[in-house]
Amino acid sequence: MKVKQAEFVISAVGPAQYPQDALPEIALAGRSNVGKSSLINRMIDRKNLARTSSKPGKTQTLNYYKINQDLYFVDLPGYGYAQVSKSMRAVWGKFIEQYILEREHLKLLLHLIDLRHPPTKDDQAMFEWLKYNELPVCVVTTKADKVPKGKWQKHVKIIREALRMDKTDELVLFSSETGQGKDELWSIIKQYGEI
Ligand code: GTP
Ligand code: MG
Repeated sequence: MKVKQAEFVISAVGPAQYPQDALPEIALAGRSNVGKSSLINRMIDRKNLARTSSKPGKTQTLNYYKINQDLYFVDLPGYGYAQVSKSMRAVWGKFIEQYILEREHLKLLLHLIDLRHPPTKDDQAMFEWLKYNELPVCVVTTKADKVPKGKWQKHVKIIREALRMDKTDELVLFSSETGQGKDELWSIIKQYGEI
């Protein structure tokens, strides 16, 4: 994918603010700090278009990034961020849930999981819920550069088992640091987005 243009469009807090030009949307879900914003930046080769932070909970709205005239990346708020209040978490949850279940332009959900660690309870619950609702999902295991190459397949196996993934469920090994997995992920995105 040749990215000629990438721009931040809007931080949406509800459907009234979603873009109206009917482009395919590729959303990113995952724990706070798993690397959602960094993945967007790497996919479009921009350093900091999507705001990243070592402090979890940075992205708190639904952030739309338009890529060429082809698609949107939608950066969702991270789940499992303990330092926000319970009621606030419930609001975020509802909001994300509605977007995921009702947005007709959503073509693929990238579910990011940290390659270094076994999936958390939140990760498991999220993946189970996505599958139950028959969402097109691709698991992306992040921060591969932090795991020695020789251990990649072992970690992938643990993640596949913990999430109870089918053989046919897509999984891409990724690193925003090195660009590992970028081309493979673009080809999956193009396929699902029909781009
Ligand atoms: P929230 O917006 O809080 O939900 O976090 P996020 O999922 O958008 O994470 P973000 O992209 O901000 O990254 C969190 C931290 O992890 C930052 O310090 C990144 O530099 C680091 N990080 C992200 N991806 C990678 C990666 O592939 N490799 C390494 N080594 N660090 C990464
Ligand atoms: Mg973020």
